[in-house]
Amino acid sequence: MVTADAAEIHQAAQALLDASLFSYQGEPIGTRAALSAGIAAENYVDCFIRDFVPSGLVFLFQGRAEIVRNFLRVALRLRGLQEEIEGHHRLPRVMPASFRVERDGYGDEVLHADFGDRAIGRVAPVDSMMWWVLTLQAYVNVTGDAALAEEPAFQRGLQSILTVMLNDRFEVFPTLLVPDASFMIDRRMGVYGHPLEIQALFFATLNAMQELLTPDQTTSTMLELAAKRRAHLTEYVRQFYWLDPLKLNEIHRYETEGFGHDVANPLNINPESIPDWVADWLPDDAGYLLGNLGPGRMDFRFFAQGNLLSMVFGLSSPEQNTAIMQLFDQRWPDLVGRMPVKLIYPALVGVEWQILTGSDPKNTPWSYHNGGNWPVLLWPFVAAALRAGRRDLASNAIDVARSRLYRDDWPEYYDGRSGRMIGRRSNVRQVWTAAGFILAEALLEQPDRLDFWDACIHP
Ligand code: GLC
Repeated sequence: MVTADAAEIHQAAQALLDASLFSYQGEPIGTRAALSAGIAAENYVDCFIRDFVPSGLVFLFQGRAEIVRNFLRVALRLRGLQEEIEGHHRLPRVMPASFRVERDGYGDEVLHADFGDRAIGRVAPVDSMMWWVLTLQAYVNVTGDAALAEEPAFQRGLQSILTVMLNDRFEVFPTLLVPDASFMIDRRMGVYGHPLEIQALFFATLNAMQELLTPDQTTSTMLELAAKRRAHLTEYVRQFYWLDPLKLNEIHRYETEGFGHDVANPLNINPESIPDWVADWLPDDAGYLLGNLGPGRMDFRFFAQGNLLSMVFGLSSPEQNTAIMQLFDQRWPDLVGRMPVKLIYPALVGVEWQILTGSDPKNTPWSYHNGGNWPVLLWPFVAAALRAGRRDLASNAIDVARSRLYRDDWPEYYDGRSGRMIGRRSNVRQVWTAAGFILAEALLEQPDRLDFWDACIHP
């Protein structure tokens, strides 16, 4: 068995991160998703916007801010490359999921972006534009270089992202409605509607806008709307997404078919929709935010990234944060097991797997998105645990991951109920696994490093 001390493991992670950097016109602009030889899909040579976030944060904390600045500039420019979709009058101008540099027939460098028009399943990367804003906020706060965000191109970019997010939709909720597979889970997994992870990012982006967008005649009104929306969103998520034993009992005894404003069950959730596993699994003093919520629909699955980001960004309340960490503590074998952290608990099986994933062989039960363990979630786990005063859990999770990630050569994901096996179709040398690990260690050393994301005026 390969063994190494903590310093060697850190160096190996850093070497992988550095090797993944690629340049455009002589400047480093991004990190590839994976460097393994036989990579699972062609687009893993791209820089994914969401994958760059842990890399970018590491570079910022290491004083290599110019890489992040280049990345932010390039991603912003790429919005202009989006082709018009037939029948869409105005382009939504989202950020691409990923991009790469290629050589044209003359040997010149050209940027190629994927806006979901080439991605497997043709999914829309709604989270990209929000991660871009949050990376900009991190850049400004860590470097103090507010001038970058003030540049006209950046102001225009921020304004149009806010416009897309605040657009009127056929909706009565403060949450953001998105198609299936529009975020980290970028394959069909029954995550259409109002998935928690998108709501956490939406909340954080609305917050960030208050700091990054300069108020003028047009933007002042938008910023006011953004503040109102954030307040409604917070109240709605804290109240209606929250599940603890008390709330479960309430839902279990819900009256249905209530009409009017003052009904206890406004979304008409049928108690019969509570899955069998929930009642015995949820510990007495723990709780979590539901995976998704809409009319007649509660997705009771536990989505780690949505819960962790809600804590990191300040969408969940301090009491809820304590209860979520209590859940991790008490259900450690299920939610952390042999590799932090389980992406979704529990897995979809049988007919549910057939219908909700389209019988996806990559997402079989307890594999990949459908209940696999993803080491990249180590950094939000550590950040969230520290925020809730659970340094013990943060440090235990890093200990679980450290030697194994090194020995297995930084896999993308693990399979099985406890995450014991390397994922069936997992890449190795997955860059956000390594960057996430370095970031987790840096946060444990200095827990207040990400506080700028939660510096909002709480409603
Ligand atoms: C997979 C993941 C996605 C990630 C990409 C690159 O498609 O589901 O979240 O961004 O790989 O690592």
